[in-house]
Amino acid sequence: MNDRLLKALRRQPVDCTPIWIMRQAGRYLPEYRATRARAGDFLTLCKTPELACEVTLQPLRRFDLDAAILFSDILTIPDAFGLGWSIDEGMGPKFARPLRNKSDVERLPEIDVDAQLGYVMQAMRLTRAALANKTPLIGFSGSPWTLATYMVEGGGSKEYKYAKGMMHDQPEVARKLLRKITVAVVDYLKAQVAAGAQALMIFDTWGGVLTTPDYGDFSLDYMAQIVAALKADATAADIPITLFTKGGGHWLEKIADSGCDAIGLDWTMPLRAARRRVGHRVALQGNMDPTVLYASSDKVEQEAKRVLDDFGDGDGHIFNLGHGIHPTIDPDRVATLVDAVHRHSRRD
Ligand code: CP3
Repeated sequence: MNDRLLKALRRQPVDCTPIWIMRQAGRYLPEYRATRARAGDFLTLCKTPELACEVTLQPLRRFDLDAAILFSDILTIPDAFGLGWSIDEGMGPKFARPLRNKSDVERLPEIDVDAQLGYVMQAMRLTRAALANKTPLIGFSGSPWTLATYMVEGGGSKEYKYAKGMMHDQPEVARKLLRKITVAVVDYLKAQVAAGAQALMIFDTWGGVLTTPDYGDFSLDYMAQIVAALKADATAADIPITLFTKGGGHWLEKIADSGCDAIGLDWTMPLRAARRRVGHRVALQGNMDPTVLYASSDKVEQEAKRVLDDFGDGDGHIFNLGHGIHPTIDPDRVATLVDAVHRHSRRD
């Protein structure tokens, strides 16, 4: 078993720094595009366990990655809530029935994760079996705040008119929605662990757009409730949890206080400074700028080394990009990166 990832998440010594890449299964790989074409569309790919499993394994066949992350999406939960999920090519995700007021939120049904999201757990079981304990498998969810923004906006947004509008004008409605999502996320992550997830990550893509007090009250507080619920669960208690708030560099100490095992960082936060602030309490994941992968192989290697040096000696670093890999990146650059990270971090 390659257990570098699980060791680094627990801040134990490793032979070299583990690396995996956000969105490692995705459109930059021609074999992913071929499987998606065979499925017909992205949603069918997510909802067909054999294909989701196949796509999860594709990047591991090409690159010496230290983890698999289940191919799925954070938007499976809003879909299970009945919001009518679709993906417009080039336009991003959309929901036909966004939640805009109190009665929309009150009408939201409870989710039965095994019945409605059973396809995710089935993909997890198939993938865990296919990995044969060679590489650890990561499960994930969106954060309540990030899922709420999609559910209230009805898609991606630049201004968050409706989601922030609800938070400012009807904070009790926003809280009710966040509580409902939190319950669903806890059930979902527990089910993923039961199906074989060996580490968990919560993607808080839109936490960084909030003020400091609103981040605490409307995003971090709910992620902390999720961490607490999992740590109190007999089966999930030992599964390391990474919280990734994009743009969350200001709030590292508070994020570490949530009881999570690791913090994901985007490229704006120097690892050395982050480590000085929280390094003894949590592991750190990140944080190369994904656009470096558009540059030459030499630059990719130099930058990999710079990020490793920025973290410095010692344990508790999981190398990753600061956000997902872009669809137009050349897969050869990823091979260069993975190799450079392992080579430059090899402990004597
Ligand atoms: O990391 C992995 O390889 C696992 C799979 C994964 C996907 N989405 C696959 C995907 C994960 C972990 C996600 C998380 C996700 N999804 C987030 C949080 C992480 C982040 O990037 O901040 C968010 C915000 C989403 C919502 C979402 N789903 C967006 C914004 C998009 C892109 C839409 C577009 O057309 O650009 C998706 C679709 C999606 N999810 C794709 C993939 C590979 C591309 C869809 C396709 O193949 O057409």
